[in-house]
Amino acid sequence: MSTWANLNLQDSASPLMEQLIFFHDHALLILVMITVLVGYLMFMLFFNNYVNRFLLHGQLIEMIWTILPAIILLFIALPSLRLLYLLDEINEPSVTLKSIGHQWYWSYEYSDFNNIEFDSYMIPTNELATDGFRLLDVDNRVVLPMNSQIRILVTAADVIHSWTIPALGVKVDGTPGRLNQTNFLINRPGLFYGQCSEICGANHSFMPIVIESVPVNYFIKWISNNNS
Ligand code: CUA
Repeated sequence: MSTWANLNLQDSASPLMEQLIFFHDHALLILVMITVLVGYLMFMLFFNNYVNRFLLHGQLIEMIWTILPAIILLFIALPSLRLLYLLDEINEPSVTLKSIGHQWYWSYEYSDFNNIEFDSYMIPTNELATDGFRLLDVDNRVVLPMNSQIRILVTAADVIHSWTIPALGVKVDGTPGRLNQTNFLINRPGLFYGQCSEICGANHSFMPIVIESVPVNYFIKWISNNNS
């Protein structure tokens, strides 16, 4: 999760988020190079001594400064498209989780396992445990097995919400009347926090998501305890 003075992306907990971070760093490097070049050129204008006062056109330089930026943009566009299609790939999921956005809480359905379903509300500050995270912890966590492909189906019951977990690189809108799909793989155990990221009303900030990533045998134990 994000903590104080953390300006960067959160550490990834899934291969897709790792790729997103690589792409972010790649794009930022190109951005810095362009900014430094343009900044240098603008700074040097202060020392202009009108050497090329009568220069009105230059075919070669105009060819270069038209085509070169186009090529640089390709270096961003192609990896971006690769990632876009990679994020949409569904890799034979072993668990399907359905998450429904409400004003203002999430509810979950494990349709693969005898229809387990529950609501997940934020814990109010005055009821928070001493080691709890304010505005982030919930009463019922989403328990999911690590190292397994997980399909998430997202929808909403009232207005548009968004199921967003930064560490997993997942961000899917829950839209009434639609069923959106994506998938992810959690590659380490732990708690992963997320929040709704569509402005959905007065308590938009108070419908967090907590994923409890556990080994597969723990997950099976949890599922069978809930079935009885
Ligand atoms: Cu739900 Cu914002």
